[in-house]
Amino acid sequence: MPAISVANPKGGAGKTTLTFILACELARSGATVAVIDADPNAIIASWGRKRASEGRAIPFEIVASPKESELVRLVDQYTASHDFVLIDLEGTASRMTSRAFARSHLVLIPFNLSPIDAELAANAVGLIQEEAEALGRTIPFRLVRSRDNAAIQTKTAKRIVTAINEAQLPLLPAGLVERAAYRDIFDFSSTLEELDEANTSGVPAAKKNAYEVARAVVAAVQMEMQK
Ligand SMILES: Nc1ncnc2c1ncn2[C@@H]1O[C@H](COP(=O)(O)OP(=O)(O)O)[C@@H](O)[C@H]1O
Ligand SMILES: [Mg+2]
Repeated sequence: MPAISVANPKGGAGKTTLTFILACELARSGATVAVIDADPNAIIASWGRKRASEGRAIPFEIVASPKESELVRLVDQYTASHDFVLIDLEGTASRMTSRAFARSHLVLIPFNLSPIDAELAANAVGLIQEEAEALGRTIPFRLVRSRDNAAIQTKTAKRIVTAINEAQLPLLPAGLVERAAYRDIFDFSSTLEELDEANTSGVPAAKKNAYEVARAVVAAVQMEMQK
């Protein structure tokens, strides 16, 4: 049912990775998932095409390169037929982005814990609030830490998290950790489950992290839908 957009005008913020990990995790838990790949780089769509060409199963539906004019219809169609609809958005503010926001039950804003990226994430929040004003309703969102350091929380990261809390911006309690596994899934056209621990380090830790992030997203979207 819910539509979840993943947005941040900054390229490299981790939108595609977060969308993909969520799709895999939700599908693994038994949910039906559709991914609308509106990222011009179409990374999830090419992952799907590669798997299809190799005769390997695809655990979720992928809608590739939607046109701006059909996005609303597609979101409505897939929210009616699937448990979750995830929308991987492009790295710029656009009409596509604002239409996706207007139809979303939750917007996730992944960002790297660096001062510059945190500031750009604040701009992304501004875009959501602008769109909410135009719509005349709130658009629920969560900032999501992306490429977190697995071993330690740096002083910079702590400072950024404190600033987010002080600004009363909602931060998802779980963030995606920096893991080789999150890159290798694209290299090997695989899911986390399928990664070979002999070729990729830290697979069990990545699986655990993916599970925690997905659980936090489900809790957030359920909370927002109950409001
Ligand atoms: N948690 C992570 N661990 C390791 N690499 C990551 C992680 N998140 C993103 N990356 C890498 O960072 C780059 C940008 O991520 P991507 O998800 O494509 O960002 P966006 O979609 O916002 O442009 C890619 O090379 C991706 O593999
Ligand atoms: Mg992307």
